[in-house]
Amino acid sequence: MWPDDARRMRELGISVVRVGEFSWSRLEPQRDQFNFDWLQRAVDTLHAEGLEVVLGTPTATPPKWLIDEHPSILAVDESGQPRGFGSRRHYCFSSNIYRQECQRIVERMAKAFGQHKAVTAWQTDNEYGCHSTIISYSNDALVAFRQWCKQRYGSIDQLNSDWGNVFWSMEYRSFDEVGLPCSAVTELNPAHRLAYWRFSSDQVASFNRLQVKLLRQHSPGRDILHNYMGNFTEFDHYTTAADLDIATWDNYPLGFLDRDSESDTDKKKWLRTGHPDSSAFHHDLYRGVGRGRWWVIEQQPGPVNWAPHNPAPLPGMIRLWALEALAHGAEVMSWFRWRQAPWAQEQNHTGLLLPDSTEDEAVAEIRQLTADLDVIAHELKESGNASTQGPPVAFIFDYAGDQMLRIQPQGNNYSPLGWVQDIYTACRNAGVDVDIVPADALLDSYQLIVVANSISINDTLLKSLQTTSAHVLLGPRCGSKTDELSIPSNLPPGKLQSLIPVRVTRVESLPDFAIETTQCENFEVHRWREKIDSKLQPQATFNDGWGCYYRHNNIHYLNGCLTETSLQSFITTRLEEAGILITPLTDGIRIRKHKGLLFAFNFGPDKEQLSIDGRFIIGQPELAPGEIAVLNLGDG
Ligand code: GAL
Repeated sequence: MWPDDARRMRELGISVVRVGEFSWSRLEPQRDQFNFDWLQRAVDTLHAEGLEVVLGTPTATPPKWLIDEHPSILAVDESGQPRGFGSRRHYCFSSNIYRQECQRIVERMAKAFGQHKAVTAWQTDNEYGCHSTIISYSNDALVAFRQWCKQRYGSIDQLNSDWGNVFWSMEYRSFDEVGLPCSAVTELNPAHRLAYWRFSSDQVASFNRLQVKLLRQHSPGRDILHNYMGNFTEFDHYTTAADLDIATWDNYPLGFLDRDSESDTDKKKWLRTGHPDSSAFHHDLYRGVGRGRWWVIEQQPGPVNWAPHNPAPLPGMIRLWALEALAHGAEVMSWFRWRQAPWAQEQNHTGLLLPDSTEDEAVAEIRQLTADLDVIAHELKESGNASTQGPPVAFIFDYAGDQMLRIQPQGNNYSPLGWVQDIYTACRNAGVDVDIVPADALLDSYQLIVVANSISINDTLLKSLQTTSAHVLLGPRCGSKTDELSIPSNLPPGKLQSLIPVRVTRVESLPDFAIETTQCENFEVHRWREKIDSKLQPQATFNDGWGCYYRHNNIHYLNGCLTETSLQSFITTRLEEAGILITPLTDGIRIRKHKGLLFAFNFGPDKEQLSIDGRFIIGQPELAPGEIAVLNLGDG
């Protein structure tokens, strides 16, 4: 069926095909008995139709014979139990045996296919961390962790002092005594857990680097990428991405909504469209992770199988999600998967084809999409649009900060990622485009810089914030910890006190039913609030006398989590103050500017009327649910 598949892909407008990412048991059915013929035929067949191939290294699925030979490859869970064979991602990143085995298979593959004309990119492994697989408590991990601690802290006294081990007599006499952060009687030392997270994150990066090195050597000139996930922060993505050419991610908007959303109202409202900011947030995040180069390498084509419930997308969403990725700058958008497999774990997960090879419903929308892409390409060519103006707002996204808050949330309704996404939503509701960038990014071009989860402040970021003339919004808890997760000696917000004279003297977390309001300005705070000592006058005062929101020139310190409506009006005012043009939108409409074009999307349940000046090249001002429009703004 392969030649037929390849022809049908080409006819549909597909140009890039990813294959091979779980194929180890077929590439090497027994140790050293390699069988690459089938993959050679597959790649040749795709090539014959002019399709480009992304080859996945198969290291997410060590085969049975390998696990039987070396059971120590298996990751170990918190109770000391090895994770079993029978699905995927069962390996431990710290297993040196596994690292060698991976190098062996990757080198073989790279030598066999590295120069093939069709192979234009490689994907390392598959979704590092999926199914909670970053952390392993194996013996190999323990040995490597002690080594890592030695390098980071230099002496055991330093480690004891950085972690505050004098508390509860947790002091160690040598690195050989340092244990795994698991199975303790009650809460583990947060600094210990943070160190283990950092270590585990570094293990992912070094594991990935081994593959990258071989691929670069035997397959020069090809892009190397990895497929990251949605709502996933269990390792520092910037570190792995530093070795890659492109960041790609796997986008399942309906699955994420049902799995990750907190409110049933949201789940109901966006059941068949996904949350309007879910894909966009990740597109912007991975554009930052990939230093500008990013793809969606897996896109939901219909119902999936893995969320608590798996509804079908609203008709139109397949086309909408694809154009949304383009509008945020994706180089490639690829569906998972071509054909629904009739067996095993994902048999209820749709593809573009049904198991019997007839077309599934996504295909009709892809035909329409292919026509849209022609219209857009033609328009860009004719109009000579070359607008390169980027978004006016930058969000600093900090993986370690996110982790610090997860390790010590101080309130179980505090969602670190959720808070960043709430602020993002407020910007997107105001029709404003956002870049999401690391702490060391160049921030010169922005009018508003949002720092929402930088819990320990990086010195490069501090310098940028000290010298910028942009407005800077510092969220609660930013700067509240040292790099080792303790309270800074000058109290929170620590180093940020060089930007604005505020000291946090008390923090409180609140259950959802407790909402604190201010007297005049209508601020509403939930979940988290800080009491501030400052010579600055607060911009508002809570009913119990605590100050709310402090400002010093272009620096704004927000000392609590605002509720949705309150956050929206607060953010809109900050955007206006920063001189950013806002386009207030209903919460189902989203817009994104790209190369002088404006893309508009309706995620909402109702028909909406767009009132934006420009020439419509696709669609019209009235947008039904799931519909899109593209306008030429003529600002090229
Ligand atoms: C991704 C994964 C794919 C497939 C897909 C199902 O997490 O990379 O292999 O499992 O989800 O939606």
